[in-house]
Amino acid sequence: MIKMDNGSSQHKLVPFLSWIHFGLFFVKHRAIHLFERIRFNMFVAKTSLKLRSTSKKLHVGKDVFIHDGSDISATLYVGDGTRINGPAKIKGHETVRIGNYCAIGDNLRIISTNHKMNYADVQTGLQEMLGIKWADKSKGPIEIGNNVWIGDSVTILPGAKISDGAVIGACSVVTKTIPPFSVAVGIPAKPIKKRFSEEVIKKLLEIRWWDWPLNKIKRNKEFFEIELNNINVNKIDGLIKN
Ligand SMILES: CC(C)(COP(=O)(O)OP(=O)(O)OC[C@H]1O[C@@H](n2cnc3c(N)ncnc32)[C@H](O)[C@@H]1OP(=O)(O)O)[C@@H](O)C(=O)NCCC(=O)NCCS
Repeated sequence: MIKMDNGSSQHKLVPFLSWIHFGLFFVKHRAIHLFERIRFNMFVAKTSLKLRSTSKKLHVGKDVFIHDGSDISATLYVGDGTRINGPAKIKGHETVRIGNYCAIGDNLRIISTNHKMNYADVQTGLQEMLGIKWADKSKGPIEIGNNVWIGDSVTILPGAKISDGAVIGACSVVTKTIPPFSVAVGIPAKPIKKRFSEEVIKKLLEIRWWDWPLNKIKRNKEFFEIELNNINVNKIDGLIKN
């Protein structure tokens, strides 16, 4: 396991030495190649993001925040501007994709594969000891779209797909596909309502503001200030500055 873990008080008192220790720890564990995969523009609060050796790839977009103490062992793609605002655990042997500008609460747990249950044993430890292949079962990758808000303490299970603009209520367990711009809650998470009218949702899925370059997003402050649930959909285009 690759662990970047600086004691916080030491970090404040002797930041320079902490960084040297951090560098030596990394070199010692021959992990520089993995660190290089994290793009420079990623912003990690402190330095205790844990990457396990099974995390083959970590692709992080621009201006991403992944909270201190997160533990990532799945292959993970995170899009521009996404914030994971509390320690997250992302594991399993399937790929996990998270889109642009998502707001993710505390204590997210993403489990991307299950153990197979049709063998005598269900434990990877025993399988390793016997030198047999890990028996895990994939239901396909986990996909979280763009502009998704995930409340605190949400669990996302293998094969789940959360579409663009969806909201997942606190403490929910997502097992299946959540439609675009719907609000889903509970165990298993089920849609209870939509954020906007069908016409506005269609328009937002066409506009895909989350793919705009940052300077276009900044130019369009007015568009982000308008409440979209009462708007005449035809007015939306007029608000957008290209
Ligand atoms: C999902 C959420 C956004 C919905 O908020 P809302 O639009 O104000 O919805 P309401 O409170 O009117 O709830 C609607 C119904 O869903 C239920 N509900 C709401 N959130 C729920 C949840 N997380 N789990 C289960 N049921 C939930 C309510 O009990 C209510 O049920 P009812 O119609 O039978 O009375 C909100 O409840 C939530 O979970 N927010 C996440 C907060 C959070 O985690 N913040 C920290 C991270 S940023």
